Amino acid sequence: MSCKCFSCSRLFTQKQEKSKNKNNDYPWDVYSLKDLVRATNNFHNDNKIGEGGFGSVYWGRTSEGIEIAVKRLKAMSPKAEMEFAVEVEILGRVRHNNLLGLRGFYAGEDERLIVYDYMPNHSLLTHLHGKLASDGLLDWQKRINVAIGAAEGIEYLHIECNPHIIHRDIKASNILLDSDFNAKVADFGFAKLIPEGVTHLTTRVKGTLGYLAPEYAMWGKVSESCDVYSFGILLLEIVSGRKPLEKLPGGIKRDIVQWAMPHINRGDFDHIADPRLRGKFDRTQLKHVIIIALKCTDTNHENRPSMFEVVDWLQGGRIGSSRRKSIIKSSSSSKVLKDSDEETIEVESTSIVSEEEGFDTEIFTPATTDNRSRRKNSKSTISNC
Ligand SMILES: Nc1ncnc2c1ncn2[C@@H]1O[C@H](COP(=O)(O)OP(=O)(O)OP(=O)(O)O)[C@@H](O)[C@H]1O
Ligand SMILES: [Mg+2]
Repeated sequence: MSCKCFSCSRLFTQKQEKSKNKNNDYPWDVYSLKDLVRATNNFHNDNKIGEGGFGSVYWGRTSEGIEIAVKRLKAMSPKAEMEFAVEVEILGRVRHNNLLGLRGFYAGEDERLIVYDYMPNHSLLTHLHGKLASDGLLDWQKRINVAIGAAEGIEYLHIECNPHIIHRDIKASNILLDSDFNAKVADFGFAKLIPEGVTHLTTRVKGTLGYLAPEYAMWGKVSESCDVYSFGILLLEIVSGRKPLEKLPGGIKRDIVQWAMPHINRGDFDHIADPRLRGKFDRTQLKHVIIIALKCTDTNHENRPSMFEVVDWLQGGRIGSSRRKSIIKSSSSSKVLKDSDEETIEVESTSIVSEEEGFDTEIFTPATTDNRSRRKNSKSTISNC
């Protein structure tokens, strides 16, 4: 039994080709259902470590004794099938210290399973708002390291991979933490490849409430700067320990930027720091990170920095300048060729925003000279990035 969708058939072919190459760089496997049933004790409830829109995630141990996390698709639909294929295709090709490692997958008639490296420290969400939040394991230095690691993972997707990759679902639950609390960006089911010479796409809106850039939420206009916006929200979440969206009495929703602004305007940065840090944080660093977050969440996407600049600034570079000059910031002067009248934005839950099933319709916007030169400076192709 095998998956019949185009992407999965291609993956099987690629795997067969890869298995001939003993020295391949992407050592992922096609698992058998029996292997994964055995590893997870038949997807026993005690092995369940998380649940998301896509399905449940189970801890397991392979016959070689390796700990794995297995994501099990909960319902088969064309949309879920597409997310599975996108996740496996993209994650199977990218390799970076700050991206979650794909170990393999299984695609049978009514089962879709993705096998990842197991991350013993769970997700950033678990530490900021979940069951480990009260343990206070995330001290200031760990938070800064997680922010830098996640930024480097996204920078790699935006700049080093060719075609460039836009993640579209940067959020705390998609930043996993290894045994040393290194950040691993996960969940590529919504990711988009940006072809050479294209600045942005107009597409169906997917993502998570509270993290969506305004131009994306309103018009479906997606570019790297949408991930930059989400990352800015995540930065504020990391330093403050607050959720991206909160419900005020009366049902009005307030986002984390709206919450932070009055404190920032008063110069009261300390007030933004997570009280669970008990004052143990570097004040200069806190202010620096908050200013970076504000730049990333600029409502005008043209004013947002690139992830290249963000990494530089988080590593201590002066905000507004870049110590690494070789890559030109994405041009903002391009136009959307036309809007997709098919797209409606459904904003109902805190998770996946698009309601309709089906595949994205994309409208490419050609790159301007600036943007083309930025892309020319990219180092590698997706097959070797
Ligand atoms: N490789 C892994 N190692 C350890 N825990 C993991 C791993 N992958 C996922 N998890 C846990 O499972 C949870 C659910 O993950 P999942 O990606 O399915 O959903 P989500 O990110 O919470 O929500 P969404 O459906 O919006 O993506 C994560 O938040 C994390 O705690
Ligand atoms: Mg996730």
